[in-house]
This record gives sequence, structure tokens and C-alpha cells, in this order.
Amino acid sequence: MRRLGCKKVSDAVLESIRSRTESFIGCGNSAPSLAVVLVGEDPASQTYVRKKAEAAASLGFRHFQYTLSADTEEEELLALVDELNKRDDIDGILVQLPLPPSIDTDKVIDRISPEKDVDGFTPINIGRMAIGKDAFIPCTPKGIMETLRYYGIETAGKNVTIIGRSNIVGKPMALLLMQKGADATVTVCNTRTKDLKEHTLSADIIIVAAGHPGTIDSSFVKDGAVIIDVGVNRIDDPSKEKGFRLSGDADYDSFTDRSVSITPVPGGVGLMTVSMLMENTLEAAIRRRGK
Ligand code: GUN
Repeated sequence: MRRLGCKKVSDAVLESIRSRTESFIGCGNSAPSLAVVLVGEDPASQTYVRKKAEAAASLGFRHFQYTLSADTEEEELLALVDELNKRDDIDGILVQLPLPPSIDTDKVIDRISPEKDVDGFTPINIGRMAIGKDAFIPCTPKGIMETLRYYGIETAGKNVTIIGRSNIVGKPMALLLMQKGADATVTVCNTRTKDLKEHTLSADIIIVAAGHPGTIDSSFVKDGAVIIDVGVNRIDDPSKEKGFRLSGDADYDSFTDRSVSITPVPGGVGLMTVSMLMENTLEAAIRRRGK
């Protein structure tokens, strides 16, 4: 088994962002700035938001955090998005998902100005990406493309099976891999897929973003395949200080004696999500006000 760790991939991206940011500031621009909005107290979301804030700080970006209670009214959140859209000192806006069920997520995302949509979730950015135009690309799929590039994993002419069809990972991932230049043959599976194995056993690359530990194990994978594990599941474990450990969607240990390549969890593509958000934020700053 070959472990495709993402720390060095992410560090390389962050280093490039750091030097591009220095040039940007050297030309008389103020530092890129990111607003992060968290609604409620979901522990995983709190962790993600903290990691995004730490990455922004380490790059010298300006960073504004808005933490709203779980019972925030939709109108209040929409008003905050409106204000952030208008503010000249903010380049990127990120509303951490999931939002509480009382809030219409699509309505909130749709309200974010496409020029500040560093998550690439607005219909304009998704639509532009779908037809191959310049757009902000959602961070996890973008980070997966970067990881494949870093490790020299070819996608052209390959069979790629994606497990999961979310707007955050599965769908944009399929669009990116279908693009001219990536040229993969893409299959997207969902919970109603009749025979998942049929689709994974023929895959050269499997991207598993199902949100369930143990979605695939060694019996789902052919020799030589590449597995990109997007899952981040908290498994109760009293022996750990925090009371849980992280597991991906793939049964990592089952691959130990197989000739496959796999991204670990933690230390995998989650790191790329954060570094790609930073890249999109720098990109937003350059587009909005680069001198
Ligand atoms: N929740 C899980 N992944 C993401 C992400 O990439 N962006 C946002 N905003 N929320 C998420």
C-alpha cells in the first residue's frame, strides 16, 4: 500500500500562496481578507473554522470571524451576508456548512456575491465551472485535483468512480474530472446505486465521499487503484484524550497488503480543503483590487 499523505502537498501550495501574497502586498495592496461565518456549535464545524482561521493568520491574511447562535433567524444571517458583500475590506466570504435546519442553505449561498464566493458554492460559480469558464472552484475537489497532480496520477482516459453526489464534493468533483484536460470517464454513485462494487472494481481512481466509515474496503478495489478518501468520521474511542478518533470512509487497514495508493485520514485531503480556500481568497483579492 502506498500512503498519499497530503501534508507536503498542502505545504507546497501554502508556500506558493505565501510568496504570491508577498508580491501582492509589495505592489501596494493590503493583505487578502476572509470573513468566516459559523452558525451554531457543531464541534466538527468549530474545528474546521478554527483551522481555516489559523491558516489565514499564518499567511498574514486579515480574518474576520462571525459566530452566531444556533437559533439565529435566516433573515439575520442574510443581513450579515449582505453587509459582508458590501464591505470593501472583505475579499472572501465563507459560510460554514451545514447550517441549522431552520435556515434555507440554498438561499444563504445564493446571496453571497459570486466575486467573494471563495467556497465556489454559488450557482454562478458552479455554472461557470460546469461549462469550463473561469470560476472559483470548490475547495475539496480542487484540492483533490492538486493532490493527483502532485503525485503524478494521470486522469485522462481513466475510469473514476465517485461515491457521493453532494454539492460540496461529489458533483463538483465529477464536473472537474470531466473537463477537457482532465478527460476522465466518470461514474457517480449514490445511496440508491444497485451494485456499488460493480462500479468500484472497474475504477482506476475511487473518490469516496459518502460520510460513512467502512463504505469501501479492500474487496471493492482492484490492484493498482488510487483511493481518495474524503470522509472525516468521529469514532468513539475512550482511550483517546478527546474521546474519539478520526476515520475516513474507506477501511484503511484493510488495504495494508494491497498494491493500491490511498490518502489517509487524518493527514489527507482535509488539509487540501484549507489550503485551497486560502488560494481562492488570494485569487479573490487579486481579482477585486490587484494593482
Ligand atoms: N462543510 C464541509 N465542507 C465545507 C466547505 O468546504 N466549505 C464550507 N463552507 N462548509 C463546509
